[in-house]
Amino acid sequence: MKDILERLEERRAKARLGGGVQRIEAQHKRGKLTARERIDLLLDQGSFEEFDMFVQHRSTDFGMAETKIPGDGVVTGWGTINGRKVFVFSKDFTVFGGSLSEAHAQKITKIQDMALKARAPIIGLFDAGGARIQEGVAALGGYGEVFKRNVIASGVIPQISVIMGPCAGGDVYSPAMTDFIFMVRDTSYMFVTGPDVVKTVTNEIVTAEELGGAKVHTTKSSIADGAYDNDVEALLQIRRLMDFLPSNNTEGVPEWPSFDDPSRVDMSLDTLIPDSPNKPYDMKELILKVVDEGDFFEIQEAFARNIITGFGRIEGRTVGIVANQPMVLAGVLDADASRKGARFVRFCDAFGIPIVTFEDVPGFLPGTAQEYGGLIKHGAKLLFAYSEATVPLVTVITRKAFGGAYDVMASKHVGGDVNYAWPTAQIAVMGAKGAVEIIFRQDLNDPDKIAARTKEYEDRFMSPFVAAERGYIDEVIMPHSTRRRIARALAMLRTKKVEQPWKKHDNIPL
Ligand code: HXC
Repeated sequence: MKDILERLEERRAKARLGGGVQRIEAQHKRGKLTARERIDLLLDQGSFEEFDMFVQHRSTDFGMAETKIPGDGVVTGWGTINGRKVFVFSKDFTVFGGSLSEAHAQKITKIQDMALKARAPIIGLFDAGGARIQEGVAALGGYGEVFKRNVIASGVIPQISVIMGPCAGGDVYSPAMTDFIFMVRDTSYMFVTGPDVVKTVTNEIVTAEELGGAKVHTTKSSIADGAYDNDVEALLQIRRLMDFLPSNNTEGVPEWPSFDDPSRVDMSLDTLIPDSPNKPYDMKELILKVVDEGDFFEIQEAFARNIITGFGRIEGRTVGIVANQPMVLAGVLDADASRKGARFVRFCDAFGIPIVTFEDVPGFLPGTAQEYGGLIKHGAKLLFAYSEATVPLVTVITRKAFGGAYDVMASKHVGGDVNYAWPTAQIAVMGAKGAVEIIFRQDLNDPDKIAARTKEYEDRFMSPFVAAERGYIDEVIMPHSTRRRIARALAMLRTKKVEQPWKKHDNIPL
C-alpha cells in the first residue's frame, strides 16, 4: 500500500514539473511564471483542486507517440477567490508550447462544462502557441468545442481571459468571446497571424509587440480591457475584479462589508463644475468621491478615454459606472466611445449589475471620419444597450446633456429609473451659440443682437429646469449629496422587476 501511495506522489511530482526544469527556468528568465505558479497566486491559498493531471495526448504522428507529458500543456481545476468559487485553466507553455491538442481541448471543455453547471465564473490564463501542429484537424475540432461552450456560457457565468505570453492562431478566439481580456505588458501578445505570415501576405514588417502587444490592444484595437506590468500584478488585479462580479446571471451582485457611510456628503463636489461651460474637469474625481472607499476598477482605461467605464460599490454592492469624461474630447460620443460604453452596459445588464451614469456630453462627434466609420451604427449600439437594459438605471447629469446624446445616456425615455440633475445641468438640443446661429441666422452680422439672443436662449434652456418641469428629471440635487441620493435610489430599486416580451434574441446593430 505504501508503495502505491509513493508511486502516486512520484507521478504527481512528475506531472507538476510539466516540460521539465530547463523549460521552467526559461519561462522564469522571460519574466513569466509557470502555469501552476499563476494558479497559486490567483486562487486563495490551498484552495486549488486540480483535475486531469494525468491526461496525455493520443497522437502518434511526427514522433509524438514517444513524447507524452502528463497534463498535456494545460492545468485545470477549481478553487476560490476570497472564498468564492471559480474555475480555472492555465496553459503550460513548458509543455509543447502550451499548444492545443484534442486531449488538451477536452480538459478545457470539461472545466467549461463544470463551471456552467456550477454557475461559477471561469478564468483562462493563456500562454500558448496555438493549435498542436502535429495533430492537425483534431486540434481544430478541439478549438471548435471550446468556442461553442464560450458562447453557450456567455451571459450566464462571467468568463475572464488573461493573456500572459503568446496567444496566436486558434487561441485568440476563445478569449475574444469572453467578457474581459487582460494582458501583461511586454511578455504577452495576441494576433490571428504572426509577423512571419504578415510579411509573406502583405509585405508588412512588424514585430510581435507592434502587431499585438498590450499597448496595441488596450489603446488601438480595444481587444484588451486592461494591461499590467507583470504576472503578479495581473493576477492580483483579477482577484480584485472578481470581488466585483456576480458568480452568475441569477445570483445578484456580491455584497461586501462597507465602512463608508452611504449618506456621506462631499462639499468639494459643489465646486467641481467650472464657471465656464467650455472648461473641462475630471469626471473621475466625481466617481471616486461617490463610490465606497474610492475603490473603482476601471475597464478599458486607455481606450476611448472620452467615456469612462468600470465597477465600484455603493453600500457594499457592485454598480457599473458609465461616465462621459469632459477632459478628453469634451466628453463627446464618438464611434469608439459608443462601442466601449455599449459593451459595458450589456455586460452589466446580463449579470444584474445596476448602472450609474454620470453625464456631461456635448453630443455626437461630427465629421466625415465618424460618419464613414459608422457612427450611426456604433452610436445605436449604446442607445440599444441602454434601452434594452432592465437592471436599475440611475443617471446624474452634471453639466451638458445635448441632443441625441441626452436620449442615449440612460435618459428617462429609454428606461432610466431615477434621473437626477445638478443645478449646473444644461439639458437642451444643443449649446446656446450653435442654436442661436441657426434660428437667428438673419442677425449673424449684428453681434449685439446675437449676444442678446444667446443670453435669452441660455436663460431659457441652459438649465435642468425645462426638463424637470416635464418630469424628465426626477429631482435637481445638490452635488455634495450625490452619493446619498444614488445610494437611496439604488436601495429603492433593489426589487426592480421588468418583464420584456418574448423573443429569441434581439438584433443589436453589430
Ligand atoms: C506544437 C509547439 C507549438 C505548436 C510551439 N511549440 N508552438 N508545438 N504545436 N503550435 C513548441 C516548440 O516546438 C517548442 O518545443 C516549444 O513549444 C517552445 O516554442 P519555441 O518556438 O521554442 O518558443 P518561442 O521562441 O518563445 O516562440 C513561441 C511561438 C512559436 C511564437 C508561440 O513557438 C510559434 O510561432 N509557434 C507556432 C505558432 C503557430 O503557428 N501555431 C499554429 C497556429 S494555427 P521544444 O520541445 O523545443 O521546447 C492555429 C489554427 C487554429 O492555431 C485555428 C482554429 C480556429
